[in-house]
Amino acid sequence: MKEEFEQLKDLAQEALKSVLDRDKLEVLKIEFLGRKGKMAELMKQIVNVADEERKLIGALANEVKTGLESAFSAKEQELAGAEEAGRAEKEWLDISEPGAWSKEGHLHPVTTAIGEISDIFARLGFACVRAPEVEWDYYAFESLNMPPDHPARDDWETFFIADGAQTAQGKGEKQGKMVLTPHTSNSQNREMAKGKLPIRMININRTYRRQSDVSHTPMFHQFEGLMIDQGVTIAHLKGVLDYFARTYFGAERKTRLRPHHFRFTEPSFEIDISCGVCQGHASSDSTCRLCKAGWLELGGAGMVHPNVIRAGGLDPEKYTGFAFGWGIERTLMMREGMQVDDIRTLYRNDLRFVKQF
Ligand code: PHE
Repeated sequence: MKEEFEQLKDLAQEALKSVLDRDKLEVLKIEFLGRKGKMAELMKQIVNVADEERKLIGALANEVKTGLESAFSAKEQELAGAEEAGRAEKEWLDISEPGAWSKEGHLHPVTTAIGEISDIFARLGFACVRAPEVEWDYYAFESLNMPPDHPARDDWETFFIADGAQTAQGKGEKQGKMVLTPHTSNSQNREMAKGKLPIRMININRTYRRQSDVSHTPMFHQFEGLMIDQGVTIAHLKGVLDYFARTYFGAERKTRLRPHHFRFTEPSFEIDISCGVCQGHASSDSTCRLCKAGWLELGGAGMVHPNVIRAGGLDPEKYTGFAFGWGIERTLMMREGMQVDDIRTLYRNDLRFVKQF
């Protein structure tokens, strides 16, 4: 019996050595020390031992049992400690490491430009108004001194809405076809018709023309300025344009008015702005990468034609005014001093381009 207890002890201790986790340890513990385990089985046999030896064997059995119990609990503690240390390693976290930033978007450059441009004119008291994008021919052309079939209309390569003439019936609106407005000048007569004077308005809107090439997109944006009051002159127009150019493009920039022709203004001008790359120094024989002879072409302007004022329900003998209008995309690209190979890039949703602004 004595040997059997010794053997059991050795067997258990040997088995303990190779145990690596607590689940296996539990299984082993039940195998040796459980109620029906090896130890219990052996102890049952003590009754068969001769009387004189039984006391001795009993003492040995207890000794082996407590020895094994403490060996198991020592092992248990050892494994628990190791597990704890392993967890610290596994779950280690560098709290000083910089966090991962979530991606932040920004407004499209054209949207930003729209905000900046309306702010600048707001400082001069020009209020933002809206005019429809899908517009009656009357406001887009006729009220602007371009009667039906007038050849000047060809300059605005217009999209027509097929059933416009029918839709117009019974709406109490001015008759004619419907168009996608090809310029923001459609706001001029709509504003005058409101009958509130003086008028100082800015209309920024999407405009549409049947053109798509490196310098045109079928949809683009324009902004239109209109001022109508008594005694408004070209000097006021020049003042407003200069203020805009200095504020949006930079203090050193100048504007000039060049004679031009529009049906709805008289006199009419093209507005040029001094070039920001050569500071207006390039002459016709020296070259600048951006401009022609020191000036860049911004857009159109002029004194509102008496016929337009009359169409707006006002007396051109009493009221005068100026109007100007041009493209947001061009204005934006001019400020950035960029020569984009293809203006359509602005609307291709390519983040590599858009992120540069
Ligand atoms: N509407 C004109 C265009 O689209 C620009 C313009 C606006 C010219 C106002 C004169 C006055 O080209």
